[in-house]
Amino acid sequence: MAQALYRKWRSQTFDELVGQEHVIQTLRNALREGRVAHAYLFSGPRGTGKTSVARILAKALNCTAPEAARPCNECPTCVAITEGRMLDLIEIDAASNNSVDDVRELRDKVSFRPSEGRYKVYIIDEVHMLSPSAFNALLKTLEEPPPHARFVLATTEPHKIPATIISRCQRFDFRRLSVPEIAHHLSEIVTAEGFTAEPEALAAIGRAAQGCMRDAISLLDQMLSYGSDAVTLTQVQQALGAVNAQAVASLVDVITHRDTAAGLRLIQQLILEGASLTEFCHQVVEHLRGVMLLQMTGNADLITDLPTETVEQMKAQAERMTQPMTLHAIRRFGAAIDDLKGGYQPQLPLELALIEAIQGERSLAPVAATVGAMAAPVAPPLSSAAPSVALPTVAETLPPPQAAETRSAQPLDEAAAQKIRTRWKEFTQIVRQQCSQQVWAAVNTVRDLDFGDNVIAFAFGNNQFTHDIVSKPETLERVAGLLSAWLGRPLTIICQMGEQAVAPKTKITTTAPARQNGEDPLVTYAMADLHAELLPNPEVDGVT
Ligand SMILES: Nc1ncnc2c1ncn2[C@@H]1O[C@H](COP(=O)(O)OP(=O)(O)O)[C@@H](O)[C@H]1O
Ligand SMILES: [Mg+2]
Ligand SMILES: [Zn+2]
Repeated sequence: MAQALYRKWRSQTFDELVGQEHVIQTLRNALREGRVAHAYLFSGPRGTGKTSVARILAKALNCTAPEAARPCNECPTCVAITEGRMLDLIEIDAASNNSVDDVRELRDKVSFRPSEGRYKVYIIDEVHMLSPSAFNALLKTLEEPPPHARFVLATTEPHKIPATIISRCQRFDFRRLSVPEIAHHLSEIVTAEGFTAEPEALAAIGRAAQGCMRDAISLLDQMLSYGSDAVTLTQVQQALGAVNAQAVASLVDVITHRDTAAGLRLIQQLILEGASLTEFCHQVVEHLRGVMLLQMTGNADLITDLPTETVEQMKAQAERMTQPMTLHAIRRFGAAIDDLKGGYQPQLPLELALIEAIQGERSLAPVAATVGAMAAPVAPPLSSAAPSVALPTVAETLPPPQAAETRSAQPLDEAAAQKIRTRWKEFTQIVRQQCSQQVWAAVNTVRDLDFGDNVIAFAFGNNQFTHDIVSKPETLERVAGLLSAWLGRPLTIICQMGEQAVAPKTKITTTAPARQNGEDPLVTYAMADLHAELLPNPEVDGVT
């Protein structure tokens, strides 16, 4: 197979590099003045030129041409570096050589003089992957570098690098490349390769690449390999869409499973793949709309133009989500489309939409109805379906700790329903023994019962007083616990007013959120990494 375009088109001189002017200017000056630092830290997103600049620097340091012409790219040293066979340029991938032994080996060899050039240049890529002891060993080397050694540490995650290391380096932050910068560079490549391309097509690639030149060139490579001479916008859109369709369904799946961590990983993956997040968000909303239509109408009539597998997938998802959850997610991802425009952290709005689509659902449950043993989402009337939840006060809406035991949702079968109906008195006797007189009396005022899959509704007629007694979270939890134990299956209780009890018939599944030491990792993540704030949620706070 032919060499990948992005390798073929690796910049070989400072002039060929796109953007990063601040880095290049400083390095040029340092080279001219013979003041090249012993160690540099190149930080920034992938595919923005860190490795390329490090290699050009290595060339400039070792090039045998007259100073003003370095790097010449013609002398034996420059050629050897371009071809990757220069012995004094040592590239280490810290992702796979991250042990202290790897760094010790480096330390031992550093002291030997260069074999061909003037300098030994070490490029340590993904340096944040080093183990703590490896960092320590590296620090020793950086503290007393031999005069003939130069280090370039490159990383996409500078915050993971110890301050002691950073303080030994001159730091350069590489920035994402702009859409025009990328489109212009791509057009040069297209021309040089003997093809043509619609400017809009190249701009679309540029947008999709999210500032990463490597991804942009790879995408262009993919387009050119389709075999047509001209790259068109339609072609690019089709290629982008094909990548996304699966990811869209996966993200909705993740929401239905309330698996925030998996969702965040998926978003990260999309960014690495250079997907257009705005386009992705549009498609998530479209997909959720399909789920909503299925939930509202119960059939797939209104969903057209979609592959059968997608519709099947939507059906499964429609069962795992409550209607309010779907509507909330649609609103959240809809809003994210706007938020995505022009943010410096391209993925943030999408991540927040994901987290809130999942957490919003938890806050919805207590709004809808007072729910017992499990924090089961129950469909409220549509009008109140989607409160604008801004990272709800999750602590208040978490299910009680006991929920873990009664979590696994099973259908409430006919026999169990029969048992409750015919032996209701027996159950109230249990309540009498286990609860206060007041609770027993209140349970005795229940006028009607109705059964859902794993939920039972109590109707209290017009007796608000006894309704409220049983609705207290502790009481509800207690009574649901007794009822669950008596029936030998986990059950949720909903308290309702009116003569007729109505339990939701859709299957309710819940996942108790992972919680350690009372802290929700999602909230911790959102606050620490996404700078989210914990807001009081009036709709939840109002519920007692
Ligand atoms: N600033 C840039 N200008 C031109 N091409 C670039 C630039 N950054 C990256 N590239 C392209 O992407 C490829 C990978 O870039 P690289 O320098 O390895 O990025 P990084 O080390 O930051 O991940 C290069 O071979 C080149 O084709
Ligand atoms: Mg690199
Ligand atoms: Zn040279």
